[in-house]
Amino acid sequence: MNTENTRELLEEIDGYIEDLFGTSDEVLEATLRDSRRGGLPDINVSPNQGRLLQLLVEISGARRVLEIGTLGGYSAIHLARGLPDDGRLISLELDKHHADVARNNIERAGLSKVVEIRVGDAHELLNDLAEQEEAPFDLVFIDADKEGYPDYLQAGLRLVRPGSLILGDNTIRGGSVLDPQEGTARATREFNRLVAEDPRLHGIVLPLIRERIDGMTIARVV
Ligand code: SAH
Ligand code: DHB
Ligand code: MG
Repeated sequence: MNTENTRELLEEIDGYIEDLFGTSDEVLEATLRDSRRGGLPDINVSPNQGRLLQLLVEISGARRVLEIGTLGGYSAIHLARGLPDDGRLISLELDKHHADVARNNIERAGLSKVVEIRVGDAHELLNDLAEQEEAPFDLVFIDADKEGYPDYLQAGLRLVRPGSLILGDNTIRGGSVLDPQEGTARATREFNRLVAEDPRLHGIVLPLIRERIDGMTIARVV
């Protein structure tokens, strides 16, 4: 099949699942709309991936979740929906404007009590977290700058407990990890290798489709 047909098929399959399970709704649509209006890049997780995130929070029974890379809060809303009423999501974001847009979106979603956004460089914020009382986290979702992934993994490992989940978004990126030509894909490949080889982790890369093939790395802390 040629590339154009493949893309169409991927979109059709993704759309089929989206319609079947109703993985979008008015609040999520409004979040994407206001993110776009705010000039944010269109790089949030897909609706179906968002459902997967919510499910992973629910299945793991997580009560404390850490997200690295908030953008407009789209994935944060999915993660927070999986939490119990007294659960907590801390999401780290470098860009103050992104954080402002996200706070509005999270407010509309009725999740302001659950979600706290911290603005700053995640490398530094993760160090601060190691010295505070929020940890251990039951689930860590890594989705900020791709070059940072190897470091975020090491920092994340200091903030978890046996049984916690560590997730990494965009870990296939159209197959660019197979033969990385650029720094971001190399860092992603390194991240996957670190997860695979670290004796403290038991994981897999789950291939995912949206308009192209991507993947989510899922690992359990042993
Ligand atoms: N999780 C979001 C998408 C995140 S996009 C969703 O699916 O809805 C990546 C985000 O990481 C961007 O908002 C970007 O500003 C942020 N980011 C990039 N470098 C960062 C850093 N060093 N520390 C914290 N956030 C960073
Ligand atoms: C990009 C980043 C993401 O987190 C994502 O889910 C998709 C694309 C990017 O930087 O291109
Ligand atoms: Mg992503």
